[in-house]
Amino acid sequence: MSGPASNGVQRGPPLQPAAIRLDHVFKSFDRNEVLKDVSIEIPHGHAFGLLGRSGTGKSVTLSLMIGLIPVDRGAVLIEGKDLQKLSREDLLDARKRIGFLFQQAALFDSLSVRENVEFPLRRHTKKRGSEIRDIVHRSLESVGLEHDADKMPAALSGGMHKRAGLARALALDPPIVLADEPSSGLDAITASEIYDLLHKLRERGKTLVVVTHDGSGVRGIVDEMAVLDQGRIVACGTAGELAASDNKLVHELIRGEER
Ligand SMILES: Nc1ncnc2c1ncn2[C@@H]1O[C@H](COP(=O)(O)OP(=O)(O)OP(=O)(O)O)[C@@H](O)[C@H]1O
Ligand SMILES: [Mg+2]
Repeated sequence: MSGPASNGVQRGPPLQPAAIRLDHVFKSFDRNEVLKDVSIEIPHGHAFGLLGRSGTGKSVTLSLMIGLIPVDRGAVLIEGKDLQKLSREDLLDARKRIGFLFQQAALFDSLSVRENVEFPLRRHTKKRGSEIRDIVHRSLESVGLEHDADKMPAALSGGMHKRAGLARALALDPPIVLADEPSSGLDAITASEIYDLLHKLRERGKTLVVVTHDGSGVRGIVDEMAVLDQGRIVACGTAGELAASDNKLVHELIRGEER
């Protein structure tokens, strides 16, 4: 996390902009003030955990990061580009660089697993059939679903659903991946398989944001974690730094669900 850009004076070579930066972001829905002055900075290749109780605005924060909803005040910058200032076309381009694993995985029920993963490739690229087939196979293989490509979402277990959602989020090989509650509703073993997959993404150099209320699951795969409470970031640091916090909520979230 960091404050606003400092005094604007730079010496030496220009710094690479952060992969994701929220700069004093405010967001309300009617009178419900969800985010009140949230600043987050995530460098390229870093894995970041966003923790908080239910309803604190974690999913809203991810939606802001991908420009699905606009900020009221402040700015969201992806790879240095202020999403609010982009044309519709440039916003769509910026979004293609972000893979989003939705909280409910959000697969299209009437499409098979294969067709779900193909969807972003057909929609956003001009790639041909054989290339698409290869990419879909590789994406499904990377999440261990290569033998389930023809299944319909209704025939998948919860963990398979999440893995299929992850394969779809990875289809365009985005450098940034946002995962909303990737382990919720899963047993401990399946949850740790999902965390292993996310860990592999990080090892491949992707920038990762993982939203969860399960601090114990995510702490092993992130460089840094932040805790959101009542619209503000109340703690931010490494797992060790947060574990040393005297904030009760931070402690409870870091400890996570008993495993
Ligand atoms: N599109 C929307 N319109 C109106 N209110 C919304 C909208 N999206 C979210 N909210 C409100 O914003 C607040 C934060 O919601 P959000 O979904 O971000 O919570 P969360 O931290 O992800 O919770 P959970 O852990 O349960 O997923 C809630 O009060 C919710 O009702
Ligand atoms: Mg949520």
